[in-house]
Amino acid sequence: MINRAAEYVKQSKLSQTGAKKFTKHIQETATWRDNCNVLDIGCGPGNVTYDYILPILPKCTNSIVAIDKRAYLVDYANERYGGKKSKIEFKHLDIVKDVTTLNQYANYFDHIFSFYCLQNILDHETALKNIFKILKPGGDLYFLYDAHNNLYDVCEYLLRTPEWEPVLHDYKDSLYDYHDSATPKQDLEELLVKVGFEHVYSTIENQEILLPMETMTEFAIAQAPFDIPPELERKFGLDGVDAVRTLKMNRFVEGREFCLSQFQELFGHHRKPIDAL
Ligand SMILES: C[S@@+](CC[C@H](N)C(=O)[O-])C[C@H]1O[C@@H](n2cnc3c(N)ncnc32)[C@H](O)[C@@H]1O
Repeated sequence: MINRAAEYVKQSKLSQTGAKKFTKHIQETATWRDNCNVLDIGCGPGNVTYDYILPILPKCTNSIVAIDKRAYLVDYANERYGGKKSKIEFKHLDIVKDVTTLNQYANYFDHIFSFYCLQNILDHETALKNIFKILKPGGDLYFLYDAHNNLYDVCEYLLRTPEWEPVLHDYKDSLYDYHDSATPKQDLEELLVKVGFEHVYSTIENQEILLPMETMTEFAIAQAPFDIPPELERKFGLDGVDAVRTLKMNRFVEGREFCLSQFQELFGHHRKPIDAL
């Protein structure tokens, strides 16, 4: 079994590129509140929280909490980026399900970040309602995610095979809400407004990146949005690579084989109205 947390960090070029770009935008436009409390939702192994979010926060930041629903990622994040190294508190928490703990944070956070996480939450409405509840009135939500990503076609392809369907059927909940939508930005914005958020800024861009095929087995294991039984993870990676070829997502550049990842990058800044209850 590979160390999925360490491998995630190694294979996270895509999310690092997005985080770098949009934390620059946030840094240039944000109005930080004094003694602010900050949250990162879906922090994964913690590298993006530590390397990209932490550096843009003001000195007067009071607290930084980073949550993830996967305990092994939170443990890795704490060991690597928590404790004495920073004031980030990494916590094992699900933004949809852990209602009792989330209630304790009602109206607590000034600035909430969530990078490449919401796309894995089927129940967007509950997640957004919980985020709204834990934001202070006037507080910001910054999110970044893939509104469509052809790598999820690989997951869906595997889920439809007789071999993988029985293993992965419980994990369908981790697949994209807006994967098949022709208007993901509008769909999400309507939902945000329904929940009570004010729109500040949003953008959607088509992106492409070539991922070296020789790293795709590890990439698939580390980045899969669902947990794969350890004894099957290598086969999952190998079958994922076969699926990339079957779905004709492979490309050759100067004799070297790559997987062409095509995705729509959706970034948004929304605010809880100052007079919200
Ligand atoms: C693709 S990773 C992104 C990690 C990191 N934010 C980054 O940009 O590299 C998505 C993370 O969201 C977490 N996640 C998914 N659903 C969640 C939920 N309901 N509550 C908390 N974390 C969740 C996953 O466990 C995973 O670590």
